[in-house]
Amino acid sequence: MSIFVNDEEKIFHLQTKNTSYIMKVAKGKYLAHVYWGDRLNKNPDTDNALLLRNLGFSANTELEDRSYSLDYVCQEYPTGCDTDFRIPAISAEFKDGSRVVSLIYEGYEILKGKPKLKGLPAVYVENENEADTINITLRDNVKNIRVVLSYTAYNEWDAITRSVKVINDSSEEVILNKVISASVDFEDSDYDFLELSGAWGRERHIERTPLRSGVQQIESRRGASSHQLNPFFAIMDKDASETHGRVYGFNLVYSGNFVAGVEVDQIFKSRAYIGINDYDFSWILEPSEEFQAPEAVMVFSNEGLGEMSRIYHKLYRTRLVRGRYRDEARPILANNWEATYFDFDEEKIAGLAKEAASLGIELLVLDDGWFGRRNSDNCSLGDWYVNKDKLPSGIQGLAKRVNEAGIKFGLWFEPEMVSPDSDLYREHPDWCIHVPGRTRTECRAQLTLDLSRSEVCDYIVKAVSHVLDSANIEYVKWDMNRHMTNLGSAGLDCRRQKEMAHRYMLGLYRVLEEIVSSHPHILFESCSGGGGRFDAGMLYYMPQTWTSDDTDAVERLYIQYGTSIVYPVSAMGAHVSAVPNHQSGRVMDLKIRGDVAMSGNFGYELDLMKFTDEEKEIVRSQVSQYKELRKFIQSADMYRLKSPFMGNETAWMFISQDKRDIFAAYFRINAVVNPGITRLKLTGLEKDGLYRIEGDEKTYTGGELMNIGLVIDMWGDYQSKTFRIKRVM
Ligand code: DGJ
Repeated sequence: MSIFVNDEEKIFHLQTKNTSYIMKVAKGKYLAHVYWGDRLNKNPDTDNALLLRNLGFSANTELEDRSYSLDYVCQEYPTGCDTDFRIPAISAEFKDGSRVVSLIYEGYEILKGKPKLKGLPAVYVENENEADTINITLRDNVKNIRVVLSYTAYNEWDAITRSVKVINDSSEEVILNKVISASVDFEDSDYDFLELSGAWGRERHIERTPLRSGVQQIESRRGASSHQLNPFFAIMDKDASETHGRVYGFNLVYSGNFVAGVEVDQIFKSRAYIGINDYDFSWILEPSEEFQAPEAVMVFSNEGLGEMSRIYHKLYRTRLVRGRYRDEARPILANNWEATYFDFDEEKIAGLAKEAASLGIELLVLDDGWFGRRNSDNCSLGDWYVNKDKLPSGIQGLAKRVNEAGIKFGLWFEPEMVSPDSDLYREHPDWCIHVPGRTRTECRAQLTLDLSRSEVCDYIVKAVSHVLDSANIEYVKWDMNRHMTNLGSAGLDCRRQKEMAHRYMLGLYRVLEEIVSSHPHILFESCSGGGGRFDAGMLYYMPQTWTSDDTDAVERLYIQYGTSIVYPVSAMGAHVSAVPNHQSGRVMDLKIRGDVAMSGNFGYELDLMKFTDEEKEIVRSQVSQYKELRKFIQSADMYRLKSPFMGNETAWMFISQDKRDIFAAYFRINAVVNPGITRLKLTGLEKDGLYRIEGDEKTYTGGELMNIGLVIDMWGDYQSKTFRIKRVM
């Protein structure tokens, strides 16, 4: 049991293994936020926790109590009206033109386990003893709308999930202009704000800044979670590090437009929030209809950022990702994109497959260019039938040849898009997102299909399934290469145009659910020009994501390190690519390229035919090393040891769940002349345990490895060293 209610005082206390989250109904009506942090085994004095002072220029909800203003009260779901000037979680418009929403506590129910979210991705439970859920109902008594706040507390992991449902119990339509998934008020604001920002080819770089007065906000208005800002942030003690300090993480399980941030108010309290972006959003709720907002996953750690990440990793690895590849080892793949781009034919691909097999690689992926007349990125998206000029035996024949070489076959799709130069577009010109009378703005010579329309979704399910069912395809790369512009849907009434971006996501999730569940044997990898949709929403359907189009190993140190703040390495596609690297021009040894890629779902993306014999030997040994490592890396606890954002070195390590297997990787970007002795201090080991390092006869205690460390000796730029360590006693 993880939820305790004091019915008399109306206190709701959610407990996870190490944390407490406490709410109380104040004044008999307002759902106030009391506390979130280290676990309290007894309810605190809520009068003390909710102490108020008379605040100038803040109006009072209780006419007889001039100290009572919602502008002061820490709240669970603020409306921004009713005396609170801070950022609201919900805003609505009613038939009479009024916009005041006032939410009064009505009741609660507790459920064992965690119900599914209709039409939306969410973390789940495998049995109902893993978590408990409380639904707290608030109501606007004047306009008769009901807001149900759902909280799930996991027993074993320090994670609390939140989602919100708005139900129109009135007899008139209501327009929702904003429905945030989670809003949490803090008594203070003495924190840093950490976000993951970037661009195409430079995803999820860590930025950390102190909170300041006003709103500090991240968002996406691109119709995708985006390369630019990930739907995640943390607020943390100013001195919090990887290993110590309080950290509060917020992550949205959603792949579209989001908004998240923190407002620091006039008395230095802060309000953190995350949800669907209210930019260009509104939703008409007819009588008795409901609107379900996506899920937010909130994690508290008192042991720094590292522990917060490990909680997210474990939860996402085991209770977000689904299907057979949640637990099965992911195959080592070779992808032809950076090897051939559009310039391939059946012989070339079959040749690559043979070569891949001889190197121990287990899967050959045919990327973009196999369909329609697609010899460049100017045409044919939407025409999902094979280009027989390039592949005379079709996908079926090619898959057979790849299988005959002894490996699996995988295929690329970009189903959400249409090229203006395509049969699909010529047949259905109104199936794309557009505004009549305005230019259909293109990006990479393509338009976005309007997935808010069910017939478009049906077409995608049919077209993709047709190909998948026609051959032995065991892996799919699902790409998406532009952001939405000039939003408009020919399928929606003019008053509902602002629903389009969210309806698109609902359509996409429906399509993914149908395709993925009807092809359980296929390993799906999502991609959006690399990591443009690396989010928990996509991971619910596809267990891995192509982390970035930037395959340069040094660049990947930053990207993979930043990505690991929230997402597990089992979600990250990571490939060894050619030198000079196609994105940066940098030249590096196969060693560091392999070592970086091994901290993810390992693969190769270069012309395998160009390897020298010596390189082939290195590749064979990398492949066999990864086959041995992946068993635990893909399910291990990750400890970040040195951050590339702090200097020339990066290091991380993985410890298996039984704590006996360890893999540590150290990377140095630039050569350092006369460096003295460099040591890598490990962490997370048993102090008095005995460990043996592969290639070294001696044994070391955990204490020695953590406090004295491993000696690193290297020479030259772009160096790496890995350590395979086993606990022997
Ligand atoms: C973008 C992806 O990120 C690349 O890996 C590749 O699949 C191209 N699209 C193909 O167009």
